[in-house]
Amino acid sequence: MLVSAKDMLTKAKAGKYAVGQFNINNLEWTKAILLTAQELKSPVILGVSEGAGKYMCGFKTVAAMVKAMTEELNITVPVALHLDHGSYEGCYKCVKAGFSSIMFDGSHYPINENVEKTRELVHVAENLGLSLEAEVGSIGGEEDGVIGMGECADPDECKMIADLGVTMLAAGIGNIHGKYPENWAGLSFDTLAEISKKVGDMPLVLHGGTGIPEDMIKKAISLGVSKINVNTECQLSFQAATRAYIESGKDLQGKGFDPRKLLAPGTEAIKATVKEKMELFGSVGKAQ
Ligand code: 13P
Repeated sequence: MLVSAKDMLTKAKAGKYAVGQFNINNLEWTKAILLTAQELKSPVILGVSEGAGKYMCGFKTVAAMVKAMTEELNITVPVALHLDHGSYEGCYKCVKAGFSSIMFDGSHYPINENVEKTRELVHVAENLGLSLEAEVGSIGGEEDGVIGMGECADPDECKMIADLGVTMLAAGIGNIHGKYPENWAGLSFDTLAEISKKVGDMPLVLHGGTGIPEDMIKKAISLGVSKINVNTECQLSFQAATRAYIESGKDLQGKGFDPRKLLAPGTEAIKATVKEKMELFGSVGKAQ
């Protein structure tokens, strides 16, 4: 059964650890993440961007696949199926498709419009028992063609959005989607501390989890981050393992061309990355 992310994040915030959101792209991704979460007894959030949703033949297909997979694989840890960086229309589509959690990314709107649209979606989510993530201050880098400049969020605007009753808040603190450039200035912990002070118990979300050094992740968690998003790192692990399989000529041996064999090393590599992140975030064993 899919659950809202509210409970798992309230517990994470109180227990000073973070729950990982791992983005999915296909069946192998979903299976790898669910099996790892179950093995490690960790709560987990499956993230679906609008582009990935389209690629997987629509949000209805994704919701049906994830629901069926949690049943067939006997997954008993809490699993939230979450729309990542959703548009206003995308949020409604995911609600209809049966997602248990949505993100409305109104960070590119003027703050008043972001507030009004978020307010409306808070009511929708509350009525249906879904969790809702909002965003203030765009996250840097490129994701699905959306390019953000990585600005730091204004703590007062964060408070305005948090006060609407969202479940969790993504606030830009210099984080970037994708690989971090050599000259990256690092996370702005002053901004994070200030936001944390303003929003109190509200779980904060750190996007762009790929490539953030371990000490920065731990410090961010100590300052109120309870959800960390990882996407690119699983893609890189999958790609490296698949390349190694083909370059070693294994696809040419016996039935090595069978997709179940061809995709197996990449799937195992995703599992290893997810495990490493869950250990770092401190969510292992929290779904006992
Ligand atoms: P990365 O691709 O940098 O891990 O970021 C993922 C993310 O923030 C999804 O919203």
